[in-house]
Amino acid sequence: MNATTRPIVIAHRGASGYLPEHTLAAKALAHAMGANFLEQDVVLSRDGTPIVLHDIHLDSTTDVAQRFAGRARDDGRFYAIDFDLGEIRQLRVHERTHLDAARGGHAVYPQRFPAQHALFQVPTLEEEIDMLAGLDHSRGCRTGLYIELKSPNWHRSQDRDMSSAVLDVLDKTGYSQRPEQVFLQCFDDQTLQQLRGQLKTPLPMIQLIGENSWGEDSKVDYDYLRTPAGLDYVASYAQGIGPFLPHIYLGRSASGDARLSTLVTDAQTRGLQVHPYTFRRDELPPGIGSFTELLDIFIRQAGVDGLFTDFPDLASTYLQHAMPAA
Ligand code: G3P
Ligand code: CA
Repeated sequence: MNATTRPIVIAHRGASGYLPEHTLAAKALAHAMGANFLEQDVVLSRDGTPIVLHDIHLDSTTDVAQRFAGRARDDGRFYAIDFDLGEIRQLRVHERTHLDAARGGHAVYPQRFPAQHALFQVPTLEEEIDMLAGLDHSRGCRTGLYIELKSPNWHRSQDRDMSSAVLDVLDKTGYSQRPEQVFLQCFDDQTLQQLRGQLKTPLPMIQLIGENSWGEDSKVDYDYLRTPAGLDYVASYAQGIGPFLPHIYLGRSASGDARLSTLVTDAQTRGLQVHPYTFRRDELPPGIGSFTELLDIFIRQAGVDGLFTDFPDLASTYLQHAMPAA
C-alpha cells in the first residue's frame, strides 16, 4: 500500500456483524456506514439465477428445513440449486446458525442479531446491484461490488456455468465494463482465468487464498500460491490476492511484537493488491486484544490495500482517524 492511499473497506457479506449476512438490510447498513465495496457471495438457483448466498446450502441461514421438509438430498442438506427462484423467495433468512447435533440452531456469533428473528429474504445478485446503484444515487456516492463466485467446479458438476451467469447480470445492470467499481474473486484459479481468457471480462480479479485442509472447490495448492513462484503465477492472471489473516499475522514474538510474514510485500512487489479476510470484532486472532489492535497490525505494520470486515463502521472510523488526509 502506498503511504498516502487509504485501504479499501469491503463489507464482508454486508454489515454482517449487525444484521444477518447477505440480506439487503445488511448491505444497506454497510452502504450507510461508508463501506467502499459490498461483498456478494454468489451461487445459482435451479433455474440458473445468481443469488447472493455464502453456502451452496440453504440450511444454515434460512428456514428451508421447515418450509420444504423432504427436499434435502441424501446427505441431509438442502441445496440452493435444487430450488427455483420462486421457492427461494419463500424462504426467510436468519442469523447463521450451527447445524451439528450438539449446537444445532444456536447462533455462530451469539452477540449478533438474534437468530430467532427470520425477517429477511435471499436476494438475487441483480436485486442487490439495483439496490446498491439506487443508494449510490440517493446518497451521492459510489460504492463497489466485490463478487465471489462460490464453488464454480461444483456448479459445473451440476451442469451449471456460474461465470457466464454472473457476467450476464453485470451486463444487464451496466456494471460489466466498470473495472474501477467491480472486483471478481474466487478460490479457484482456473475459473478466474476462464473469466479473463474465454469470457473476456476487463474486471479486476482477486485470487482468494485459503488453507488446503478446507477442501475448497479447486485443485490449486494454496501453500504454493503464497510462495514467490506462486505469486508470479497469480500475477499472470489476477490483480490481487485475498489471503486468510493467519497468512500475514503469525502471532506474537517472545518480546510481544507482532510477527508478520513477507506475503504482503511479496505480493505488492509483483503488482498485486492484498485484501485479507476476515476482520471480526468478535473473533480476534490469538494474541490480539482489540479490533483496533488488529487493524493497527494489518494497516500500519503490514500495509494491506484493503480488508474484508463484518464491521465496516469500525474499519471506516479507524481509517478516518489513522489516515485523515488520504
Ligand atoms: O471472499 C473473501 C472471504 O469472504 C472468503 O471467505 O468463506 O467468507 O467467503 P468466505
Ligand atoms: Ca466471500
